[in-house]
Amino acid sequence: MLALVTTFAIDGLASRRVTVEVDLRRGLPAFTIVGRADAAVRESRERVHAALLNSGFDFPQRRITVNLAPAHLRKVGPGFDLATACGILAASEQLPAAVLERWAVFGELSLSGELRHCRGVLAVAEGARRAGIAGLVVPCECAREATLVDGLAVAGVTSLTEVAHVLRGGSLPELPAPEPVHAPSAERPDLADVRGHAAPIRALTIAAAGAHNALLSGPPGTGKTMLARRLAPLLPALSRDEAVTVTRIHSVAGLHNGGGLVRERPMRAPHHTISAPGLVGGGSTPAPGEASLAHHGVLFLDELSEFSRAALEALRQPLEDGVVAIVRGQRTVIFPSRFQLIASTNPCPCGLAGTDACRCSEGDLARHRRRLSGPLLDRLDILVDMPRPSASEIGRTSGTCTAAVRESVMAARERQAARLAGTGATTNAELTAGQLDRFVRADARALAVLQRAYAQGDLSARGRGRVLRVARTIADLAGDERVRAKHVNEALGLRQRDILEGVQAA
Ligand SMILES: Nc1ncnc2c1ncn2[C@@H]1O[C@H](COP(=O)(O)OP(=O)(O)OP(=O)(O)O)[C@@H](O)[C@H]1O
Ligand SMILES: [Mg+2]
Repeated sequence: MLALVTTFAIDGLASRRVTVEVDLRRGLPAFTIVGRADAAVRESRERVHAALLNSGFDFPQRRITVNLAPAHLRKVGPGFDLATACGILAASEQLPAAVLERWAVFGELSLSGELRHCRGVLAVAEGARRAGIAGLVVPCECAREATLVDGLAVAGVTSLTEVAHVLRGGSLPELPAPEPVHAPSAERPDLADVRGHAAPIRALTIAAAGAHNALLSGPPGTGKTMLARRLAPLLPALSRDEAVTVTRIHSVAGLHNGGGLVRERPMRAPHHTISAPGLVGGGSTPAPGEASLAHHGVLFLDELSEFSRAALEALRQPLEDGVVAIVRGQRTVIFPSRFQLIASTNPCPCGLAGTDACRCSEGDLARHRRRLSGPLLDRLDILVDMPRPSASEIGRTSGTCTAAVRESVMAARERQAARLAGTGATTNAELTAGQLDRFVRADARALAVLQRAYAQGDLSARGRGRVLRVARTIADLAGDERVRAKHVNEALGLRQRDILEGVQAA
């Protein structure tokens, strides 16, 4: 007897249809799985065997051959268990084979026959929809994730017995209750906790408003990490499309609990010992890295100068193109990775550069600067100096709170989106060199200020573009359609040349 079951294999961030063919024939009892299966798939024999018996089904004493087609596609992970078990049940006539034409199944089995949470269910559900399949059986825990796809019947099941019940035409089990949409929790970092630092908070506001990448520099303990963690809560909520994309990525990476949509903008803060593949993705079966987990959110590189050169170099592509392409053999896997970068650094290895207490040698300083130079620096529109707050400042709160700043950020973002409608870009940070003249709309005095700075040798051509983008955001925050001299002056002030002295003039 032969049975066919449809399931899906995760491939990058998408899923590909896989047909599980199960053949039973007379002969010495054996159970073989073929079709480019990895170790977890081959181990599924033991799980499927035990799960069938422990769920009260017969395990046929036959020669069982399971083929996962197409054979050229690598099959990874335990998600094929359920399809294999259903195939054996259908081939041994314990389940009606005809229903398996209408349903796709996906899930890992425990030895007792329970279904376990699996990665990538949203991608699988999207694949099932594309393939025109009527329904999808998934573990109950991931059912909400599968229901994000319209037009697909979803059966969230807890055990193999329940799967058989559904496939025999029984009623669909009730879906788990949707997760409550709660207001941002009180524990979210708020700007109200920051003392002093009026200028850095203003810089953070500008960065948030225009989606500009920013670098915070200052001595230890002045609140750089603290401030950087307050960027994500300033950003607008994810749109539905963005939320679906983030959910898909996080689900494939195993970071999603299988509930509904991810609602919070991602904020990823990898440790500085992270490798280049960890940061941008990699592995023999390519998996998304931190840059993709931060897609549509914030990537925070704390202690930037401590990251390996290789890791920072690897960020070049995501920063420029908003995607990471990983090539494996003949194939290329693309992971989206459009994030806002915020980084922090001490001005020198001891952190006290510029004061008499600094004990760093020339060599230390040179090494520190070299680390900061390169591809990242080109992409940092805003460089924020964070000196120690004065004694009077540290004694009282700044009087700024996240909710109020977020309002102004939202208004500025709306202005940008309206101006950039039809270009594909939505924020000033995305303006290309060619778009600057058209969209910045600087008045004559503003251009004269910029011209003067350029003539004095304070600005490179690239730096000039950066200043214009930031000035545009400052004008948007002020609700001004024209970029004026004061906006350009403020933008020029956000280019902290002294941090980078000798490295690369902005
Ligand atoms: N301006 C500030 N207002 C309120 N609290 C602050 C401020 N600066 C620092 N702190 C307190 O000090 C702690 C340490 O600050 P934080 O870790 O942000 O410093 P840092 O600049 O990142 O230092 P390092 O360079 O050592 O990483 C914070 O958790 C906070 O409690
Ligand atoms: Mg810190």
